[in-house]
Amino acid sequence: MKSNRRAVLGTLLCSTLILTTGLSAHADEKKITLGFAQVGAESAWRTANTVSVKSAAQQAGINLKFSDAQQKQENQIKAIRSYIAQKVDVIAFSPVVETGWEPILIEAKNAKIPVILTDRNIDVKDKSLYVTMIGSDFLEEGRRGGKWLEDHYKNDPGPINIVELQGTVGSAPANDRRAGLLEVIKNDPKFKVIASQSGDFTLAGGKQVMEAFAKTYGKQINVVYAHNDDMALGAIQAMEEAGMKPGKDITVVSFDATKGGFEAMVAGKINVDVECSPLLGPQLMSAVKDVVAGKPLPKRIVTEETIFPMSVAAQTLPQRKY
Ligand code: AHR
Repeated sequence: MKSNRRAVLGTLLCSTLILTTGLSAHADEKKITLGFAQVGAESAWRTANTVSVKSAAQQAGINLKFSDAQQKQENQIKAIRSYIAQKVDVIAFSPVVETGWEPILIEAKNAKIPVILTDRNIDVKDKSLYVTMIGSDFLEEGRRGGKWLEDHYKNDPGPINIVELQGTVGSAPANDRRAGLLEVIKNDPKFKVIASQSGDFTLAGGKQVMEAFAKTYGKQINVVYAHNDDMALGAIQAMEEAGMKPGKDITVVSFDATKGGFEAMVAGKINVDVECSPLLGPQLMSAVKDVVAGKPLPKRIVTEETIFPMSVAAQTLPQRKY
């Protein structure tokens, strides 16, 4: 009887020990800390991207340190340097511009903190300075816009005069969306880019640049090629104030395919919107976990995207997530 009681007590003690050890092992499991340096809050796309990153971090149980660089490279560099000082586990950032990143990335490498690029790419010789780049293929987006224009004007002898509202000077989407368009139209002399100026990816910037274009080129303009929806929406305001009819007497090509862009298509004011998805948070968090676990990642993870002509806007708008 006595020995039976002892055996029961022993088993109880053992299971309690196993349970508590299990619990404390779980509590000791270190939460991953990610330092994320965002570009800013320049567009509806960016706002949706920030929401995606923040909510995905929360869902993945990742401790997120977030900073907004207000579209200034020096602010992003400061933020990255402070993440290095705080010894975060991983740094991710969406680079404002393509060049000038080597020194800070070398600092991160020396501190043995892996870096993930998201949304925008950088121009560095030493690709070992970052683990992977997750985001859109902006060059392909530019080609998509250009090919749509070629097709749209296939029976028109031209000339077709294009004014271009560029994104932030030196940024990957501005460089590549321009390059993609030029690559497609270079063999067809009826297309001419008669003016190009940056509206910095903002509605106010797009409006201001378009006001100047309307004054200088007026009826010569056939196409507005806006590097994002916010600038396209600003340009639409400027065109309407100048008595022009966007979407009718001026063809408007835009990028992002946000809800705002779709609403303008439904209203007949944007003719085509090339998709660029900001919903990168879940992919980023899974990459962060893989990096910390020492799993290999592809150097480039490309977001799947498409193009939306005005004709499908009304039926597609209700399903848009951003
Ligand atoms: O880098 C993605 C671009 O940045 C989006 O097209 C634009 O809207 C944003 O500001």
